Amino acid sequence: MNPRDHICLALDVFEFDEAKKLVEATSEYIGYFKVGMSFFDKVKSISDMIHANGGKVFLDMKFHDIPNTVSNAAKTATRLGVDIFNIHAIGGTEMMRRTLDSTKEEADNIGGEPPDIYAVTVLTSIDKITLDAELKVRMGLNNYVVYLAGLAKEAGLKGVVCSGHEVKAIKKACGKDFKLIVPGIRPKWMSETDDQKRVFTPERAIKDGADILVVGRPIIMAESHQEAAKRLFHEIDTTF
Ligand code: C5P
Repeated sequence: MNPRDHICLALDVFEFDEAKKLVEATSEYIGYFKVGMSFFDKVKSISDMIHANGGKVFLDMKFHDIPNTVSNAAKTATRLGVDIFNIHAIGGTEMMRRTLDSTKEEADNIGGEPPDIYAVTVLTSIDKITLDAELKVRMGLNNYVVYLAGLAKEAGLKGVVCSGHEVKAIKKACGKDFKLIVPGIRPKWMSETDDQKRVFTPERAIKDGADILVVGRPIIMAESHQEAAKRLFHEIDTTF
């Protein structure tokens, strides 16, 4: 088990050069780099830069549209050579299945590997009350998250993105081979408080069954990006 394969740095910066500095400083310890919507104009150049540094790309665009449209986006993601991308489970199983098929088809066409697809279940900005009173989903937040994870599994996706609080329940329902990407991670050595309220230590998340931890500010805000990445790497290493 290489801890590098279990850490994803969220490249939550705006400039290409800032992203490059982060990748170059940390890729010895970090295997995945998350490229989000703020970089939608630079996905190709950033992906190429990450790959040139030996990293893998997690394209975090959370696609949600009709099956045909998301399938086309999936073909583009496959051509770009990203390693992971995500879609919303509430797009339904037909959308998820057709998206998965498109990545395989396109990968065959170009002679490459299809990216892994993860589903987003319920955004963590939606709380129990909003889900029930506003969105009229009556089955409760946790049940709904596990239900949507089940749909993603049924559609053949690799796994879901979820909070640390949902890891155990989803693993129990979907099995250990269904992979979980978990943000909201705060190492013990990070004393700063920020807008992540219900956070998990890397150790606890991995012990509960998380597969890839998404970490942003603990590394981005650190005095030395490299030292912070190294510390996180060793913390995970001792957990296995
Ligand atoms: O800086 P921090 O470690 O909080 O960054 C976490 C990253 O994970 C950010 O890019 C954020 O958008 C993303 N994320 C999250 N919580 C979710 C889903 C994604 O923090 N539930």
